[in-house]
Amino acid sequence: MKPMTDALETRTSSVDADLQTQVQALAPWFHNLHLGNGVETAPAHALGDFPAFKWAQIAPHIDRDLSGWTVLDIGCNAGFYSFELARRGARVTAIDVDEHYLRQARWAAGRFDLADRVEFRQMSVYDLARQPQTYDLVWLMGVFYHLRHPLLALDIVRHLTRRQLVLQTMTLPGETTMVTPADLPLDARATMCERDWPSMAFVEHRVAGDPTNWWVPNHACVQAMLRSAGFEVGARIIDETYLCTPAAAGQAPSVEDELRAATGTLAPAQ
Ligand SMILES: C[S@@+](CC[C@H](N)C(=O)[O-])C[C@H]1O[C@@H](n2cnc3c(N)ncnc32)[C@H](O)[C@@H]1O
Repeated sequence: MKPMTDALETRTSSVDADLQTQVQALAPWFHNLHLGNGVETAPAHALGDFPAFKWAQIAPHIDRDLSGWTVLDIGCNAGFYSFELARRGARVTAIDVDEHYLRQARWAAGRFDLADRVEFRQMSVYDLARQPQTYDLVWLMGVFYHLRHPLLALDIVRHLTRRQLVLQTMTLPGETTMVTPADLPLDARATMCERDWPSMAFVEHRVAGDPTNWWVPNHACVQAMLRSAGFEVGARIIDETYLCTPAAAGQAPSVEDELRAATGTLAPAQ
């Protein structure tokens, strides 16, 4: 039996070597995808087994059975979350601005046999204003702080969210919030300098060497912006990650005119 085992091992290791070659050809990877037989796309990721460790924390908060749900994964990268949500039964549309990551995602979808459940498109979050689809679950992880116009993005996202939004963003340190007044007198503006006032730090240069980091909100600001865009903020399911639902009509300011002007979408028929 030994020679047969040796032959099998040789064949397996040459298959793995071929897989490693394909992974290398698609590098660099941000998502560490587990491809089987111990082959991983980013095993030396600085954050650890990313984003598997984050998914392990988030997963219990998401419906186990997403059959019949449509999901929009914005900034999908190599598709880790898209694949997990598709495995729960969802039909996933996944977008990213970066063709490099989309190439990885399409390749991985084939490997995981999920190509018929996840559709990848090269698009920006802002482009979503010009398409009519809505989605049961919108996944907006790790994108907010990369946007120069984050509130515009949230307004767009609100329009296409039917049931739930999961949002993760880098935030400023601190967990506390304050109740802000319904109307702040002009001469009380110092209140807005208080630590817990909803605030965002603007990044003119870089954070962690990345020139695409623009805005870092505090915890209060993420929640306030989500409410202002028309979401009800439910649980903060893990650090920096919020599970939201669409708020009832009339709870948020009407932004239709500004949204249309900013996105170039047509005004509704008179
Ligand atoms: C930090 S990664 C997060 C990836 C993934 N969502 C996650 O949480 O692991 C940010 C991703 O968002 C994409 N991205 C950046 N700006 C975007 C935009 N305006 N619209 C869509 N995707 C964007 C980047 O190309 C990148 O893949």
